Amino acid sequence: FELPIKDPAISANETGYEPYDLGIQDDIFIKDEFGNLRYGKVWPDYPNITVNDSVDWDTGVRLYRAYAVFPDYMKQETREWWINQITKFKDRVNFDGLWLDMNEPANFLHGSVDGCNDNQYDFPPYVPQISWGGPIYDKTICMNSVQHYDEGREETHYNMHSVYGWSQTIPTLTAVQNLTEERSLVVTRSTVPSSGMYSGHWLGDNGSNWPQLRYSIIGTLEFNLFGIPHVGADICGFFNDSPEDLCRRWHQVGAFYPYARNHNGIRYQPQDPAFYGREFAEHVRDILHIRYRMLPYLYTLFYYAHTQGSTVVRSLMHEFTHDSQTWGIDRQFMWGPALLISPVLEENTLVVRAYFPLARWYDYYEGLEMPEESLTVGGGIDLEAPLEYLPLHIRGGHIIPTQQPHNSTKFSRLNPFGLIVPLDGSMQASGDLFWDDGDSIGTVESGEYYLMRYIFSSHILTSSFVHVPASHPSTMLDNLNMDDITIYGLERAPSIVKFNGAQLGADNFEFNEETKVLSVASLEHPMTSVFTLAIELAETV
Ligand SMILES: *[C@@H]1O[C@H](CO)[C@@H](O)[C@H](O)[C@H]1NC(C)=O
Ligand SMILES: *[C@@H]1O[C@H](CO)[C@@H](O)[C@H](O)[C@H]1NC(C)=O
Ligand SMILES: *[C@@H]1O[C@H](CO)[C@@H](O)[C@H](O)[C@H]1NC(C)=O
Ligand SMILES: *[C@@H]1O[C@H](CO)[C@@H](O)[C@H](O)[C@H]1NC(C)=O
Repeated sequence: FELPIKDPAISANETGYEPYDLGIQDDIFIKDEFGNLRYGKVWPDYPNITVNDSVDWDTGVRLYRAYAVFPDYMKQETREWWINQITKFKDRVNFDGLWLDMNEPANFLHGSVDGCNDNQYDFPPYVPQISWGGPIYDKTICMNSVQHYDEGREETHYNMHSVYGWSQTIPTLTAVQNLTEERSLVVTRSTVPSSGMYSGHWLGDNGSNWPQLRYSIIGTLEFNLFGIPHVGADICGFFNDSPEDLCRRWHQVGAFYPYARNHNGIRYQPQDPAFYGREFAEHVRDILHIRYRMLPYLYTLFYYAHTQGSTVVRSLMHEFTHDSQTWGIDRQFMWGPALLISPVLEENTLVVRAYFPLARWYDYYEGLEMPEESLTVGGGIDLEAPLEYLPLHIRGGHIIPTQQPHNSTKFSRLNPFGLIVPLDGSMQASGDLFWDDGDSIGTVESGEYYLMRYIFSSHILTSSFVHVPASHPSTMLDNLNMDDITIYGLERAPSIVKFNGAQLGADNFEFNEETKVLSVASLEHPMTSVFTLAIELAETV
């Protein structure tokens, strides 16, 4: 998946630079109060100027940067110009989606090449807290710059600043969807409520240090509350070299960001998993395989975020509101109601303190139930967490649909499905699976999807279709099977396991007396039809 980065500001010092020339022709750039172009400086250098760039980081002035102008995406002409530019760009550079940066809008200068004059918008009576105590136009354009909305009505940048990134995001999505004819992806730096309808978000340029790893959980939880659930921090951090221990733990957390991406700043030590050696890379692959195994669950959570505005990643408090001990927890997080992630967030640490509210909890890897004395312990309990281990727990009552992982989501999607069925205190569990072709635009709106429900009750697991596409049985389920079902927390060994009424042979299932996990395998049941799995327990002696 190719996702090149784009910044909104346009160089104003090139000769024959089409984005600028056409933009001038269509009158799309933001102006000052006198109707002149509002110039700032963003990335490009002056053409043909070879002297060393002199940098004044205090003022942000980079003397040999070219002048830049800022498109006003609130104008219809600008949106058309932008879609046109993206279309031309695609002829030269292929891409699947676009990543929008510097769209706060950011400016290396304060206000403009001439600063800002004394006016009520740039020097308002009440100034919000600005980083380093600067003026309101710190590292952006002057607030009295002139923008538009509603069929040409003029409006100050003061009133438009917070929606600048949003106004760029929407036509960007239109363009990439039009060009790829797929759902595609836009990721944006600047967001505002409703941006989540159009884009994902990365948490920005975070430093490669432990506090930033910790804060990334808070950022991810917050953006889920803001309705922008496709979010994550740069895995291993952006600024500075990432120490191996940090990068390893960051991959463990980052595999569970809804938007999981390792991203490094230029000129720092490489931080791709292979840089740290084979053993490190294999560990990261194992962790990503857990993510891939649970992609059907993640995808289903996104379906509910889309249709009901729910969160994908959520805090323990969100699920256990009545337990006040969960209220302050920001070092553990959940995927939906079912999966609890308790990562190590400290240097040289092989143990993690984790809190477990009242529920049946199972270790993800072995299926062993957490003992009762581990639950609701004030401050949490200590879990072993060797370097290559991420504590993961599954909550009783919530079925997780899975798929055998492969080397990319494209190939994982072709693999057999499975179910993890963790039982609650009344020996029940339920869960859903959303499935569509993965690429088409608007499948929920067009009804071209499946929603399947799985219910375990009275020792019978039943599947049903809540929604089928008009074309059912659809090609989107071609060659896809339900293969393995793992039930956590059964009372005792089964004597008989029946699948669709037929008794399974001993080769098809296995019960672990120690963990109480029943594993049913090799079912090869086509996903296009429903099934039941019935368990008869052995007599007690
Ligand atoms: C860059 O463009 C601005 C605006 O047109 C102009 O004032 C300035 O002289 C130009 N600088 C160079 C080096 O061409
Ligand atoms: C793509 O662009 C064409 C031509 O401008 C337009 O007719 C069509 O509606 C666009 N499609 C989307 C998905 O925006
Ligand atoms: C992470 O980066 C974003 C964007 O640069 C920033 O807003 C946020 O404050 C950073 N997090 C921390 C903890 O500094
Ligand atoms: C991923 O797996 C597919 C299917 O087995 C294979 O065709 C492809 O070459 C693999 N890709 C990589 C990068 O290994």
